[in-house]
Formats: sequence, C-alpha cells, structure tokens
Amino acid sequence: MTSSSSKPRILVSRAIFPEVLAQLEAVFEVEHNQADDVWSAQDLTARLQGKDGVLTTGGERISAELLQACPQLKICANMAVGFNNFDVPAMTASGVQGTNAPDVLTETTADFGFALMMATARRMAESEHFLRAGLWKRWSYDMFCGSDIHGATLGILGMGRIGQGIARRGFHGFGMKVIYHNRSRLDAGLEAACGAQYVDKATLLAQADHLVLVLPYSAESHHSIGAAELALMKPTATLTNIARGGIVDDAALAHALRSGQIAAAGLDVFEGEPQVHPDLLTVPNVVLTPHIASATLNTRRAMAQLAADNLLRFFATGEVLTPVNTLGTVRR
Ligand code: DGY
Repeated sequence: MTSSSSKPRILVSRAIFPEVLAQLEAVFEVEHNQADDVWSAQDLTARLQGKDGVLTTGGERISAELLQACPQLKICANMAVGFNNFDVPAMTASGVQGTNAPDVLTETTADFGFALMMATARRMAESEHFLRAGLWKRWSYDMFCGSDIHGATLGILGMGRIGQGIARRGFHGFGMKVIYHNRSRLDAGLEAACGAQYVDKATLLAQADHLVLVLPYSAESHHSIGAAELALMKPTATLTNIARGGIVDDAALAHALRSGQIAAAGLDVFEGEPQVHPDLLTVPNVVLTPHIASATLNTRRAMAQLAADNLLRFFATGEVLTPVNTLGTVRR
C-alpha cells in the first residue's frame, strides 16, 4: 500500500481506547484493529509493510524475522510493562526503538497479586464453585479451611516495583514477615520501606507460607519454578503467579497441586496462554484468572496513553519516555 501522506504511518495491533486512538489519528496515518482480531505473525508482518511504528500489546511477537521483513519500522511501543514479546537484541541491532509501559500499573497489579494470593489461601474460588453447584447443605468445622495471611511469611520472587508493592501491602497491612529473592538485592532504605529481608532462593522456597512470583520472563527465568523447586516448598504453602507464563512449569505445578505437595495456587498467567494446561483445569485447589492483573479501566487507559505518548514523542523529537533499549544507530 502506498500513500502520498507525509505523516508517519502507525499500526495499532489490537483494539484500544477510542480517545487514545483519536490522539494518534490526529498526528499519524493510522491503521487500527478496533475489531480486535488476533493476527498471526504473517498477518502482522503484512500489515506492518510501509509502517513507521506500531503500538503492540504483550501478545504480538516482534521477532528478528519480522524486523527484517519490515525495513521501514522504527519504533515498537508496548502497552505492557513486560516486553518478552520483543526480541530486544534484534531490535537494537536493527536500529528499532522499543518502549514499554512501566509505573502506571504498579499499584493496580500489586493489588491484584495480593488479592489473588488471598483468594488462593482462603479457597474463595473453590468454595464459590461448591456453593454454585448446590452442594452447600450444612456447616462443618473444617469446611474450606484455608491458611492465614496475617502473620504468615510472604515470599516474593522478583523484587521490582510490583514486588515491592506487594511486600508493602503484606508488611504494613497484614503484619506479614516478608522475605524476597531477586537478581540484585535492594538497598537498605527500600528493604526497610517494604519490611523485606533478602534470602537465597532455596530459603525463600522453604520458608514462604505464600510465595508470589513477580519476575520478568526471559530464557534465564524459564521454569524458575519446576518440580525441584515445588519439592522445596511447604505442603501448606500457596504459590501465586502474576508474572508471566513459562516462569512456572505448569505440568509440574498441576502435579504438585494434585498430590498435595503444595496446598494451592493462584495463576493469572500461563504457558502458551490463552491455552491453559488441561491438568490445571481439573485440579480444584487453583484459582485461575485470564491475565487481568493490570485490568482496571484507569490503569489500562494509562498504559495505552503511555504507549501512545511514546509514539508521539518519538516522531516529534526522536526521544521516548520509557525505552527498553538504547540505540546506536536509528532506522531512517
Ligand atoms: C504487563 O503489563 O506486562 C501485564 O502483564 C499486562 O500485559
């Protein structure tokens, strides 16, 4: 497709808030997807022909092959804090700017992580299914007994901004003992603000009553929690994953849940989502949600706005607000 317009050409790969789209349309020549179709890699590559920029969600893969096939593309603005859908080294090598959407979702996502942990520990989904199925006939002393949050040990794997938000909630709000493991230790001031104590990974796994995963996905973090790690956890412990699918070995987790190796799990993200491992769908002691940790209207609007602002800033000044890579040479 050719055009005589001198405006930069942008693809918005999924449906977004109309008011954010309108801001882009005021400045750029925009191809949008308000029908919210999910495109294959081939479709995405085809639609990116002749485009200068793209607004992606975390679901569209920007691979080395795609970059090679789309030589005009200069910027990919992700409407997500995670950017494991970007091949960042390939983008940098090709002179393509990448941006993400940090900060604006931190507190909302920490709220959700804490809520999912609580729902898991207090068996909210399992007991609701029981009630809806008409199985509630009488009170019993041990019906759906779960485990306490207050006073328990909260373990956090991955202590970035969202992990710190969850730690603060646990320490200040619920009187939890907070332990964490991270690639790098926080400075003393941040540790004190979160009430968090640094431990090695094995200690984290062994001591946590409630373990929450908030680390970014990468080749190194793939299956950070598998059969060996689950075997180190307490049989009364819960595991909550709001990070990314693939950080947990879902087949090993389903086995650990079924065999009682751990008490329960709360999962917002899955390997190969939106597909969910069939074994996870049949174990009762797991709360399953469809990748909605950042899903409040205010926060999703702020994420879309930040992605749009990165595109607007880039084409106006060459700078961006929240880069994920530093470019030597920029594509022209
Ligand atoms: C993120 O921003 O990375 C969340 O997982 C939403 O996709």
